[in-house]
Amino acid sequence: MKGVILAGGTGTRLRELTKVINKHLLPVYNEPMIYYPVRTLINAGIRSILIVTDKRKAGDFLRLLGSGEEFGARFTYGLQDKAKGIADALLRARDFAGNDKMTVILGDNIVLGESAWLNDRFKGNCKLFLKEVPDPGRYGVAVLSGEGKLVDILEKPSNPPSNLIVTGIYQYSSEVFDIIENLTPSGRNELEITDVNRELLARGGVEYEIIHNQWIDAGTVESLYEAQEMVRRFLKDGEPRM
Ligand code: G1P
Repeated sequence: MKGVILAGGTGTRLRELTKVINKHLLPVYNEPMIYYPVRTLINAGIRSILIVTDKRKAGDFLRLLGSGEEFGARFTYGLQDKAKGIADALLRARDFAGNDKMTVILGDNIVLGESAWLNDRFKGNCKLFLKEVPDPGRYGVAVLSGEGKLVDILEKPSNPPSNLIVTGIYQYSSEVFDIIENLTPSGRNELEITDVNRELLARGGVEYEIIHNQWIDAGTVESLYEAQEMVRRFLKDGEPRM
């Protein structure tokens, strides 16, 4: 299993903070944001990790993370010339992944506690990790059938059908790349990861697991602030870091 961290984008929702610094390098309490997804993968035993970022900020990532030796991992870097969406960033992982399965995590997704659940085998082409949250409308929301089957995902719906959202942690086989190549850009001219997941759903065989770890997407001013508090509380409670 290979790991991919998607850390591109322009961070428009954190505008003043991201004029000079890439969002994923902003501090979350005592560490840069990207340390969290890095550790989530490493703690699950995934040591070959591709970090996809924006070409203008790539040097900062190299200086911070280097070869990965310090983390006991091997980092490779991929570049996005333009911010064309999460799915476009994932396409940069094609050569790196080859025919291997991969765990993909968005660079602003912070998961506290153990992540061994990433090691449970998935048989099909995709496994999604869901989480119950109080504010589902700002995420991709899962639609489950009466039998608990995942039947659809609605991106940022104004009337969320449930509190169960699709986190930015995904597992894919290499089939995902053909889907991305044939994707039509959304209204905001980006290749959307939810469109990729919906296409996989239409093809069948998507698995999911509900995670119980503390989790947050730190991509807005408010949630970045909440993330700092979440980490601070976690560290103060004396729980092991991860
Ligand atoms: C993205 C995805 C969304 C997902 C979220 C998780 O949203 O589009 O489906 O629920 O990540 O972090 P974004 O935060 O880029 O708006």
